[in-house]
Amino acid sequence: MSTSAESLKKLVENTVDRHRESVGPLMPVLHSIQDALGYVPAEAVPLLASAMNLSRAEIHGVMSFYHDFRSKPAGRHIIHLCRAEACQSMGSRDLEVHARTRLGIDFGETTPDGLFTLEPVYCLGNCACSPSIRIGDETHARVSTEKFDTLIAGLESQE
Ligand code: FES
Repeated sequence: MSTSAESLKKLVENTVDRHRESVGPLMPVLHSIQDALGYVPAEAVPLLASAMNLSRAEIHGVMSFYHDFRSKPAGRHIIHLCRAEACQSMGSRDLEVHARTRLGIDFGETTPDGLFTLEPVYCLGNCACSPSIRIGDETHARVSTEKFDTLIAGLESQE
C-alpha cells in the first residue's frame, strides 16, 4: 500500500483528532494508521510527533517495543509463528529455525518476492494443539516442518 505525502498527512491528522480525548492515545493512533495502510511509514513519524507533541524517539520507542507495528509494507501472507511456552514444549523452536531457513528471512522480515512476512506471536489460544501458526486469519495446529512446507507450497502455487 503506498500513499502520497498529502494523504498520509491527512490520515495522521484525522487519526490523531479521533483519539485526542483518549488516555495514552499513541497506541490506538499507531494501530489505526497500520490498519489503514498495512504499516506505519517512516514519513508518518515526524507528522505524528508534531501532531501529538511527542518526540520522534518516543514514537520509535513504542514502535520497536511492541512487535505489532511494521515500518514497511507486509507481504501478501503474514505468518505468525507462536513462540510461547506450550508451543515451545512441542517443538516450535525447531519449527522457527525451519521457517526462517525455508523462507530465507528472519522474524519481522518479508521475502524479496513480497509473498510472506514472518512474525512472532506469543500464544494463539491454540495451545492444546501446539505448535501453532496463523497464516492470515487461519490458525493451523500441530505444525510440523513438513506441514509448514506444504502450507507454504500451497500458497506459492496460488500465485
Ligand atoms: S502457546 Fe502457542 S498457541 Fe498457546
